[in-house]
Amino acid sequence: MHHRNLTALLTFATLAFAGTSFSATAPADAIKYRKAVMSAMAAHTNAFSLINFGRVEHQDHLRAHVEALAAMGTEVKVLFPAGTDTGNTDALPLIWQEQEKFGQLVTAAEKSTAELRDAVVAGDKAATMKAFKAVGEACKGCHDRYRKEKK
Ligand code: HEC
Repeated sequence: MHHRNLTALLTFATLAFAGTSFSATAPADAIKYRKAVMSAMAAHTNAFSLINFGRVEHQDHLRAHVEALAAMGTEVKVLFPAGTDTGNTDALPLIWQEQEKFGQLVTAAEKSTAELRDAVVAGDKAATMKAFKAVGEACKGCHDRYRKEKK
């Protein structure tokens, strides 16, 4: 019954011990981390929408979600190290073949998530809507070109 919790705990313990001597990151772990950050960005985006479009209350949570999203927006640029193009990943090799073009989408994500945070902090509804649209375009723009299509 508590099997999953136990597994999670053991994983945590293993990572904690391994963590005492970080050296080179295994590509498989870098891919896991990339997916974890991507999923977290999606979760904060969803939570933001539910509040922002009035489907739930919790206005006081809005700021935490956009701050987390903006922080993760700055992390995207280090999520695609060399050697993480193969394995359990949906990232397309094209990423490493056209780094400049890919970099523009990374920058768009960083910029738009920062603008969304700033607009929410300023209480500017119009700027919030504009920035949220830009965030959606940044995510989708990158996925359309650089992520394997879902089957
Ligand atoms: C610069 C490119 C880029 C940007 C910007 C980007 N993504 Fe991604 N995203 C990817 C790639 C590539 C993958 C596939 C990663 C893998 O499988 O290793 C991915 C995967 C994902 C996944 C699936 C994670 C999993 O567990 O398999 C989600 C969810 C996601 N992105 C959400 C988002 C959201 C939300 C945003 C915008 C806030 C965003 N992404 C912005 C490129 C991007």
